[in-house]
Amino acid sequence: MIDLVILEKEILEEVKSVKDQDGLEAIRVGELGKKGRISLLMKDLSLLSPEEKKEKGSTLNKLKNNVSNSISEKKEELENTELNNRLLKEKVDVSLPVQSQSAKTGKIHPVSQVMDEISEIFGSLGYQIAEGPDIETEHYNFNALNIPESHPARQMHDTFYMPDKNDNDESLVLRTHTSPVQVRTMEKGEPPFKFISPGRTYRCDSDQTHTPMFHQIEGLVVDEKTHLGHLKWTLETFFKSFFELDSIEIQLRPSYFPFTEPSLEVDVLCDRSGSVLKVGEGSDWLEVAGAGMIHSEVLKSANIDPTKYQGFAFGLGVDRLAQLKYGIPDLRTFFNGDVRWLNHYGFSFLDIPTLSRGLKK
Ligand code: DAH
Repeated sequence: MIDLVILEKEILEEVKSVKDQDGLEAIRVGELGKKGRISLLMKDLSLLSPEEKKEKGSTLNKLKNNVSNSISEKKEELENTELNNRLLKEKVDVSLPVQSQSAKTGKIHPVSQVMDEISEIFGSLGYQIAEGPDIETEHYNFNALNIPESHPARQMHDTFYMPDKNDNDESLVLRTHTSPVQVRTMEKGEPPFKFISPGRTYRCDSDQTHTPMFHQIEGLVVDEKTHLGHLKWTLETFFKSFFELDSIEIQLRPSYFPFTEPSLEVDVLCDRSGSVLKVGEGSDWLEVAGAGMIHSEVLKSANIDPTKYQGFAFGLGVDRLAQLKYGIPDLRTFFNGDVRWLNHYGFSFLDIPTLSRGLKK
């Protein structure tokens, strides 16, 4: 049997003189690793008689501990030396000129920017963010929102149908609006609810003001006493903040959506007389959102008792709001992927005007 005293001395010497982490790790594996020398000696203990095992075992354990401790100490020592060497070598030359920013920095797309701005405004009003899938079941996109199969509103949506059904034999569509997130989110929790849901939506439609893929933000508040007045205040507060105006006039027009009762369309005051459309001035009205009090059938779809809870919902067209706020005439250019367009209309990430960074530049 090897003399353990000599072995220990030998290993400790080796550890002491090793110069780098790799060398130290090699020693650790060679001695204490699964097939290391000390580990194998430990294994051999099982061949000894109980008395021998006791004696040898305790010596071997001490040896193992000593080696392990000396490796840990050495590791720390090497780490410190490496750090000190790096600190001595590395210097930051603060007088070096900064590289040109314009060279390769990207721009933030106006849609991302406006999504961000809208989310911040509602975030500051205490709304949470909820999400749903782009490929949606017919159930959530239509039925749960009180739009049954034969309903004419289905035709109005120019839906893209997916070729295959899902595993539950349900028909799938590319969601035509963000409203399906209403029921999806409500059925997972308990009222009160207060959330917005930003995302992509799809309709088979394309001209100067329509693209097959576009963006919406859904908003919803449900509580015991939520009423139309709250909705009006919320929309006013939102549009004032979004368009960075001290006051704004909005007009609520009676309308029809299957998932709200009453339903309304929201217009903001604007001036179309000049070359650019100005929001908050003039005498024209511009439609910016759909909204209403959530239909009792929708609450029932989400297992919420409509005799106890009520609420409002609204849907904002994000691309339209981006066009308005930043004066971008053709909607289709949003999605052409032209870098020159993005350089012109996009935002540098350092001077994005958002609530948290100060809205006005
Ligand atoms: N989902 C509607 C659409 O895409 C917009 C909308 C209208 C959403 C009224 C709402 C609402 O939440 O209450 O045309």
